[in-house]
Amino acid sequence: MPLPHIQVVVENLNSQGHGVARHEGKVYFIPWAVPGDTVTIQVEKDHKKYADACLITINKPSPDRIKPECPYFFKCGGCDIQHMSYDAQIAAKQHIVVQVLKKFAKVDEQIIQPIIRSPKQWHYRNRIQLHRNRKGEIGFYECHSHRVVPVEACLIARENLNEQIKKIKNQSEKIPLNPPFLKGEGWEEYPPLSPCSGIPYAGKKGGRGDFTRFRLELRDDSVTGFGQVNPEQNQNLVDWVKNKLDVKKNEVVADVFSGSGNFTLPLAKLAYKVWAIERDEKAILHGKKQAHDQGMQNIEWRHTSALQGLFELKRMGIRLDSMVCDPPREGLKEVLEGIVDLKPKKLVYVSCNPATFARDVFLLKEKGYEIKTIQPFDMFPQTAHVELAALFIF
Ligand SMILES: C[S@@+](CC[C@H](N)C(=O)[O-])C[C@H]1O[C@@H](n2cnc3c(N)ncnc32)[C@H](O)[C@@H]1O
Repeated sequence: MPLPHIQVVVENLNSQGHGVARHEGKVYFIPWAVPGDTVTIQVEKDHKKYADACLITINKPSPDRIKPECPYFFKCGGCDIQHMSYDAQIAAKQHIVVQVLKKFAKVDEQIIQPIIRSPKQWHYRNRIQLHRNRKGEIGFYECHSHRVVPVEACLIARENLNEQIKKIKNQSEKIPLNPPFLKGEGWEEYPPLSPCSGIPYAGKKGGRGDFTRFRLELRDDSVTGFGQVNPEQNQNLVDWVKNKLDVKKNEVVADVFSGSGNFTLPLAKLAYKVWAIERDEKAILHGKKQAHDQGMQNIEWRHTSALQGLFELKRMGIRLDSMVCDPPREGLKEVLEGIVDLKPKKLVYVSCNPATFARDVFLLKEKGYEIKTIQPFDMFPQTAHVELAALFIF
């Protein structure tokens, strides 16, 4: 029997970019719903206290609802909130951050600063990952699926990446469907496609089926394992980290999960010494080259896991004045003990996952770190993702 239709008013957004509404004590999560919409929904999956619902009709659209710029928006899994004005996106992200941090990190709302808007709302990404299906179509995955949505261009990718999409689409038949030289699950470098040489890309066998996945990258990033995707907003983040750590000439700093030195190099220009810990060898090599090109000699690169790297610093008796840590989405986990063990006086924690960030903020407070301020950054406009940074003092 089909489940009944209900009319609800959407109150806010959750971290997946779905509208949140309440009706008779139950919470409903509704993809494509915008805070302020009055909508009719139908339950898709009923959990005890909440339900996943689908949007049937928009009875009264929110004033924040807009027509998405991108023709692929409702199919492509890349962006999730293009149907909201940028002001509404910013307000919704601020709300998400405040709710998560109040609930799980038990922080005072006063220390959460207003989100820093992205200097660019469109064409900001310097890295995208495209896929090719068996029909030879190239595009992005649909949401929660491995079906390819063929695209001609992407409105959040930088213009030069869109040029590359055009070129690579013209040569899609040259990309082997199941290249024999792909080993395991890791990314393998492909030789550049000859007629459009200079397009760096890498591929790996998809988890399911015979998809060859490949990604196009801007040249600047081609040799790093990780690099922030929004360079203009990244500059704001780097400036914030520098400003909050306020590193002096005689100070020793650690950059844990350093990547290719996004924070390491700017901090090394201020500090006596910076220890950079990173497990991706390519990222370390790229960082070392940049440091060498800039004549910097005060960086100690450690190609190892964060846990091991912190343990080594402890064993060597290194006294740290400051630390910045920027882990992947899983957060600090067992690394947190290693950080606390080294007791850097000033600690900046950067994260792209509010949930694990909130958990770790709570634990750091329990270990005696005082949280001074939390700064959200809109690193990923048109999506529900948000970047966070916090300053702690011991
Ligand atoms: C979110 S990125 C941050 C990179 C850098 N701070 C930046 O802003 O570009 C996380 C980095 O941690 C590295 N990483 C992931 N797990 C790690 C681990 N267990 N030990 C050391 N590095 C790790 C990844 O290779 C990646 O470079």
